[in-house]
Amino acid sequence: MTHPNDQSRMDRIVSLAKRRGFIFQSSEIYGGLNGFWDYGPLGVALKRNVKDAWWHDMVGGHDELATLPGAPTAYEMTGLDCTIVMHPQVWKCSGHFDLFHDWMIDCRESKRRYRYDHLQGRWAAHRGKRVFVTTEASGDEAGPDTVARAQKFFGLRARQVDEIEWTGDLEPLPAAITAGVAAADVLGPDAAAPGTLTEPREFNLMFETRIGALAGDADDRAFLRPETAQGIFVNFKNVLDTSRVRVPFGIAQVGKSFRNEITPRNFTFRSREFEQMEIEFFCRPADSAAWYRYWRDRRWRWYLDLGLTEGKLQLREHHADELSHYSVGTADIEYAFPFLAPGEFGELEGIAHRGDFDLRSHMEGKLVRKDGELVLETGADGKPRHKGSGKDLSYFDDITRERFVPHVIEPSAGADRGTLAFLCDAYHEDEVPDEDGKPRSRTVMKLHPRLAPVKAAILPLVKKDGMPEMAIDLYRRLKRHMACQYDEKGSVGRRYARQDEAGTPWCLTIDGETLADRTVTLRDRDTLAQERVPVDEVVTLLRDRLASP
Ligand code: GAP
Repeated sequence: MTHPNDQSRMDRIVSLAKRRGFIFQSSEIYGGLNGFWDYGPLGVALKRNVKDAWWHDMVGGHDELATLPGAPTAYEMTGLDCTIVMHPQVWKCSGHFDLFHDWMIDCRESKRRYRYDHLQGRWAAHRGKRVFVTTEASGDEAGPDTVARAQKFFGLRARQVDEIEWTGDLEPLPAAITAGVAAADVLGPDAAAPGTLTEPREFNLMFETRIGALAGDADDRAFLRPETAQGIFVNFKNVLDTSRVRVPFGIAQVGKSFRNEITPRNFTFRSREFEQMEIEFFCRPADSAAWYRYWRDRRWRWYLDLGLTEGKLQLREHHADELSHYSVGTADIEYAFPFLAPGEFGELEGIAHRGDFDLRSHMEGKLVRKDGELVLETGADGKPRHKGSGKDLSYFDDITRERFVPHVIEPSAGADRGTLAFLCDAYHEDEVPDEDGKPRSRTVMKLHPRLAPVKAAILPLVKKDGMPEMAIDLYRRLKRHMACQYDEKGSVGRRYARQDEAGTPWCLTIDGETLADRTVTLRDRDTLAQERVPVDEVVTLLRDRLASP
């Protein structure tokens, strides 16, 4: 079974996210919309800080004059902001129109829909009756779930479950069906009788929309982008022609993507509307393997530098049979989210070596791999299945006088998944002494100061004796440099507790001593250390602490 503490820990994180205004279910007052999430006052600041840190570290703060550690050479970075709805041909040439689908399966009895590849099952028998019991549960929960389902199906009491005879281990349903398990013997995950699952069907994950007032013709069909990457590829020539970038260089984009996921789940982890932070990095083919390694390691370090626990992160190189048809190499950065069974990890970011697949697709048309080569896919009439733009997207190096189609390395991160990982990792429960020195349990979000929605809280000890005036003055001076809050409501202990739950790294208390010697108490969220700091040095001190790694 899933470690019970981990699921209950996840429940507590979700509850804090709601209670403190990090994340809400979309359209909640109407019952919510599955797979869609809204960010509340603290959440919007946290997610913005994640995106800003990414943009600063990858683009705005990048030093193109230096060769960074591990990089083959110096390189340039620039950015784009493309539309969500693009020309439909973009998705035909990229392969999304034909290939971006999952297999789904419906249950005629329960009316529930499943992702075919998420179901697994095994044979159970009791007194001559046999059924292939399936479950949607994963990890350590799957086995016990099939036992519970078989018990119910055979109408057994708890003490009789040992009478069930099991054959074989749990195996994915698609493999079992291919191996000969008859659909009539399959007990769906929520069904009472076997044989209620439909044939698996392809389901394209792109949301469709229609353009213009005359919507209705098949030709009006357009799609919400399922990734931000394609906007970068189709603007490659525009960027080359209008800026002075030279290969190697990267184009970055942050923005919304949409996927009509069959079974959105695990809070914001698998949503239908989410944000991506993607880089398409263009390099010479001969250098591409070295650049792939550079980006893989660079992106791994980024999560560590922002405080994710190393032991909960995993860098996983894909096996050759897992690679997309265009990919020469892919690695995933994965995090051990608390909703997963022990030993399981969920993807935060993929770093893919995409070769020249994307630029060539938008020049020539949809490509397929044949005998190890990427070739134009043609129909029975010999014509391209999906025609490319015909525009020249090659690069001319005016120093070496060479022309080539650059290869692409793509670090593709999810802003929501990153935010969720930072939230989960930051969540801590510990004990701190209260004002009377008695231990009090607290929930504290140990967010990296760069990510914390509020950097500092300014708290007058009491609402009199000039303390609020001094506190407001400090608040106004500090607010020019960082997000901070003024709070005079409740006991100072309660105010600390509120800020701990919000992840505020520093609290500044204005007390009697402040009036006498113009010093304030600076409390550190994580160590609980308190130091006296001259009030006029607070701004410089906190700015320095925020800037330090
Ligand atoms: N351009 C490549 C690409 O889109 P991907 O692995 O499909 O690759 C990249 O997506 C990242 O986008 C994932 O690692 C994940 O962080 C995020 N992502 C993908 N689907 C998502 C979903 N349904 N909900 C939330 N984030 C998602």
